[in-house]
Amino acid sequence: MAVATWTVATPHVAAQPDVKATHGVVVCVSPRASNVGLVVLRRGGTAVDASVATAFTLAVTWPEAGNIGGGGFMMIHPGGGKEPVCVDYRETAPAASTEKMFVKQTDRHNHRLVGVPGTVRGLALAHSRYGKLPWRDLLAGPIKLAGEGFEVDETLARGLNSILASSKRHKELQRVYGKPDGSAWKAGDRLVQPDLAATLRRIAERGADEFYTGKTAELLAAEMKAGGGIITMDDLAGYRAKVRRPIHGTFRGHDVYGPPPPSSGGICLVQMLNVLERFPLRRQGRYSPETLHVLIETMRRSFRDRAMHLGDADFVKIPKHLTTKKYAAKLAASIDLKRATNSESLAGEIRLAPESESTTHFSVIDRAGMAVSNTYTLEQSYGSRVVVRGAGFLLNNEMGDFNWRPGHTDRQGRIGTPANRIVPGKRMLSSQCPVIVAKGGRPVLITGSPGGRTIINTSLCIVLNVLEFQMPLERAVRAPRIHHPWFPDQVRFEGVKLDAHTAAVKQLRSIGHKIDPAARKQGDAHSIRVVDVDGHREYRGVADRRRRPSARAVGY
Ligand code: DON
Repeated sequence: MAVATWTVATPHVAAQPDVKATHGVVVCVSPRASNVGLVVLRRGGTAVDASVATAFTLAVTWPEAGNIGGGGFMMIHPGGGKEPVCVDYRETAPAASTEKMFVKQTDRHNHRLVGVPGTVRGLALAHSRYGKLPWRDLLAGPIKLAGEGFEVDETLARGLNSILASSKRHKELQRVYGKPDGSAWKAGDRLVQPDLAATLRRIAERGADEFYTGKTAELLAAEMKAGGGIITMDDLAGYRAKVRRPIHGTFRGHDVYGPPPPSSGGICLVQMLNVLERFPLRRQGRYSPETLHVLIETMRRSFRDRAMHLGDADFVKIPKHLTTKKYAAKLAASIDLKRATNSESLAGEIRLAPESESTTHFSVIDRAGMAVSNTYTLEQSYGSRVVVRGAGFLLNNEMGDFNWRPGHTDRQGRIGTPANRIVPGKRMLSSQCPVIVAKGGRPVLITGSPGGRTIINTSLCIVLNVLEFQMPLERAVRAPRIHHPWFPDQVRFEGVKLDAHTAAVKQLRSIGHKIDPAARKQGDAHSIRVVDVDGHREYRGVADRRRRPSARAVGY
């Protein structure tokens, strides 16, 4: 087959890293939040200190996904040969939730969709183990930005205008995020969030307990009662973040670490790498039809296993074989090199739920080599659209990540497999996939992305681009991505216009692949690479600019 290549029309990242540094780097979607993290690093804070500050700042400056009312996963590699950990601060189903509570539900933006938030407990747990600076100091930057306000840029103005236009019935959202004079937001306007500043001040003074048992908890429980939600003070008081052992795999001489269940990210990533290492991808070329075919077939198989087996491991038994090399050999052998597999032939009629929009990822490294890869989310952009009255923050709609219709799987609908059904206290399955790759006990690559189920494949593309195709990080982040979620049985090529499709796409069609006609952007992967320059470690930070052109990595 002919070798073909393509590039995405918009240049998503610069031709060089945003920053080359030796002491520390922070990279996220919001330049202000990156800078707050950098100040913490300069003061001698660890990567976890900087992450806590950046995470709270994102809740102020990037409200569509930065949050205190959501949840996520923080991968921490302490460096120096020590074992990495994953802080799981995924939301949980409230005590009053039931397996069938959403069987007839269509609306995704209301109080019942809210999972018990994990972010504040998760950040506090990470800080208690790996932080050095006082908790209260880490919140000073975000409190100031919320209280005094900051200038919105074009991307944020557009996001706010769009959510305000589509959420008319969410009165507190209108009050908190609407421009005081009622007009549309423009770049240069100032967003001031006094209620959020007061909430952050309480959390700074009293720690995470304030959010879960103090005034903030009372405001949240009152909001639930007023809006027909089911989260109670007991649910909040009972929430625990957990330190878990990451999923570990090896690829081309590197150690790859991803989040364990309740995220599917780590298992699927390691499984796919195990399959892909059996093929000569580098020799075949990054965008050759041969490589793309194997990549699509691998994604298809891994997402099938995800749907069948994965859920919260505290509630369901997850088969051990999924990440073994032996099982990967079996999966690899099932790939026909000349023909696309029909997804249905792998497991009947199962279809997955539609994509959702927003999450955010950041990467941090400090001078001692401690690395953080953090993805957290409200699930969809602006979550449930429910803002806690008087507390100024948005709540997630993460209950949407459970399988809603037990036993019911259909062509249009969702999957109903048992692993991810609703049980009180259970965490809903996630695709978040913050990754740390290490060599000899030291982090060498930190990456991750938003994007619903595309997240796992975005992380995979970047790991492959760096480790297999040996691209410098800026190219690895810029390179067009692909996604196949098993169902719908279509591959998505980022940035490829099908009316002018490349030779590779034609080839793939000719062997039976179905191509998604939408050429949309995939992910937003703010990443860090550690390289050796003349025997010294150098950090290279690269912001993905797919979602926000002003995103930049910073460092010193
Ligand atoms: O945890 C998950 O897998 C989803 N709630 C993530 C949603 C998401 O990434 C939307 N982002 N762009």
